[in-house]
Amino acid sequence: MSEESIAQTLALQGGMKAVSQIEGKGEPKIGVDEFMSVAERFGFSAQTLAKIRKAAEEEDVGEGPFLANYYANLPETKVQAFERVARDTFGVPYAIGVSSGTGALHAAFVAAGVGPGTEVICPAIGFFATAAAVVQARGIPVFCDVDESLGMDPTKIAPLITERTVAIAPTHVMGSVCNMEAIMEVARQHRLRVVEDVAQSCGGKYKGKYVGTYGDLGCFSISAYKIVGGGEGGLIITSQERLWERANGLAECGGLWRPVRFAPPRYEGELFCGTNYRMSELEAAVDVVQLQKMPETVQRFHDVKISILQQLRTYREIVPQKLNDVDGEVGYLIRFYPQTLELGQRIVDGLRAEGISANTRGPNAPPDWHIYRYMFAVTMQSGATPDGCPFTCPIYRERGGHIQYASGDCPVADDLFDRMVTIPLNQWYTPTDCAHIAQGINKVFSAYCTADTSATPWL
Ligand SMILES: Cc1ncc(COP(=O)(O)O)c(C=O)c1O
Repeated sequence: MSEESIAQTLALQGGMKAVSQIEGKGEPKIGVDEFMSVAERFGFSAQTLAKIRKAAEEEDVGEGPFLANYYANLPETKVQAFERVARDTFGVPYAIGVSSGTGALHAAFVAAGVGPGTEVICPAIGFFATAAAVVQARGIPVFCDVDESLGMDPTKIAPLITERTVAIAPTHVMGSVCNMEAIMEVARQHRLRVVEDVAQSCGGKYKGKYVGTYGDLGCFSISAYKIVGGGEGGLIITSQERLWERANGLAECGGLWRPVRFAPPRYEGELFCGTNYRMSELEAAVDVVQLQKMPETVQRFHDVKISILQQLRTYREIVPQKLNDVDGEVGYLIRFYPQTLELGQRIVDGLRAEGISANTRGPNAPPDWHIYRYMFAVTMQSGATPDGCPFTCPIYRERGGHIQYASGDCPVADDLFDRMVTIPLNQWYTPTDCAHIAQGINKVFSAYCTADTSATPWL
């Protein structure tokens, strides 16, 4: 056979391959420059960055963390590792790493059956994302007042329950924990789901058990400024397989979690259109380390707070924030309620002059979406479309729903939120720092308040 005819014979029939090698191979899509961009984010000096680059260039880092979730039988991805650590840490069989706390809540509410014509009881104090995620799931938030713990007041839940209520969504506020026993009791009596918002209290415990594991689903934010914080991320935990599948159905509608991605539904309602709240590998790489540090981080915060509280004297005009579980308190801030707004402002000024960081809202504070009355997108009943869905939803109306929101609906929250004084704490304070801070607080209280050993104790 001539060279010409060999070249023309199909490779399948023993001819020469047309393409024996590709010269323009280039560099991996995600390589050294991307790695260096991450290293820069950590704030290394130019000299150190140069050393890191040299080390990274000496090894081929391959494709990088690109679509790692799409392929089976690879070594454990960082997201999978993060979910494994979450399961082990919280002692639950199911965990889903997602892209934000808001995404976690949205997926959890959909999993819990929130949809058109339903209501969810949300706390008056927490964060806008909880109620917003209910609306995103096409449900209607109903605000429940708080008690002096700033958590949902369990005695105020039952009167808000209607035949439309499907879930209660307590938020564990700023390092404190809700009275989960009482909340679960109401939920059980009325056969309601509980979605816990643990974004502000990751690692907090109630009666020795992590918050987030009491309800049907626990949702966490792990954005940069949270207790466990990466960049932007979230986590959902649950003990119920169906809820895990439904939350996945919303958060990962590509079906990467299904044993056979394209198989027909295994039961009615398994498949529905969700969205993509997948956690990225880069985020998970940080979060998996952060989560393992969580117990020690929480212990340090806790010890600092308790050490200071133990040294505080009691005063007639000062009511400390009620702690539902002193042992389970994360404790990254101290809160108390002075008798009047004016007294609160004087105390804050006095504390700052002593070198202690403190703040209070006072009488003329701007809106703040940690309290229901400023969650305008909810209180104005505006949906993303001009028809006002879900507030104007015919299904909701047919079921007798007619929600109205007004400032003053939750008077305890309104009062405490403006009056409270907050002292942020640092987990790295030494016993000497704690003693100095406690002395400063006692000094300012003594100047403006009446010492009273029968006043409400700090612990
Ligand atoms: C109580 C609470 N829920 C939900 C969120 C929302 O989390 P993310 O910002 O990760 O969406 C936050 C964030 O601050 C929060 O404090």
